[in-house]
Amino acid sequence: MAEIIDGKKVAADIKEELKKKCDWLKSVALDVPGLVTILVGDNPASESYVNSKAKSCDQVGMRSKIEKLSKDISEKELLDIVQRYNDDEQYHGILVQLPLPKHINEEKIIEAINPQKDVDGFHPISVGNLVIGRETFFPCTPNGIVELLKRYKIPTSGKHVVVVGRSNIVGKPVANMLLQKKDGANAVVTICHSAAKDLTVFTKQADILIAAIGQPNFIKADMVKENVVIIDVGINRVEDSTAAKGYKIVGDVDFNDVFAKSSYITPVPGGVGLMTVAMLLQNTFHAYIKITNQKLN
Ligand code: GUN
Repeated sequence: MAEIIDGKKVAADIKEELKKKCDWLKSVALDVPGLVTILVGDNPASESYVNSKAKSCDQVGMRSKIEKLSKDISEKELLDIVQRYNDDEQYHGILVQLPLPKHINEEKIIEAINPQKDVDGFHPISVGNLVIGRETFFPCTPNGIVELLKRYKIPTSGKHVVVVGRSNIVGKPVANMLLQKKDGANAVVTICHSAAKDLTVFTKQADILIAAIGQPNFIKADMVKENVVIIDVGINRVEDSTAAKGYKIVGDVDFNDVFAKSSYITPVPGGVGLMTVAMLLQNTFHAYIKITNQKLN
């Protein structure tokens, strides 16, 4: 039977650690880290993500700002705004909430962010540094996964990690992070995805299975081996007439089916999702340290 990995508790611990650091900065009259989140348009899910990021900044004592822009803003205007925050010393982290409206080239906008402020870790320079094992900003969800494994002392060295999903936000970066030859990583990593003829061939081999597929309850007990560690990255809405909102959130793993067979498992909600914002704050803190130290040199 599995031990449940409590992402809510770990995220709260990380935020508490950051709050202590921000309290100390204030106590010696130093500036605090600042995060600006740029939101284009009025997508309700994006709005809710951005609000929760700003609220978390407030909780730990960081400066935060939501730059809310019309869905009709031009690419050039948005590029100018990103540049303004690149130059603004109050903000050490810049996050452009995705997706952007169709008329704006996301890659161009991400590339306009100063890599020193790229707290999402999406800039090609950050991605390249991650792949070749240099110090960089790790994308927040993969970083949250690795942090959960570390804090639960789940060994990764020599273990077979199977990642289902090849997105730039989760699948590819988490695979690259766990592949690194260093403590807390050093895994043998397989990435598989929807084009596999039989995913079960891969998932059955996993010591640690990371599911980032985007399909509710996709991973079943007969797809995994005994004592597998399950990391469920899915956040899927499914209809539920008994819920006040008419829906509930489930992961990519059929939790009840897989629970008895696994050694550790992340619940949804309450697992990986809550770690994403905590790691964003941690990245913002690291950006602050780097930028302010560099100014001292
Ligand atoms: N949209 C959904 N997830 C993310 C994220 O982690 N970062 C950004 N910038 N946009 C997102």
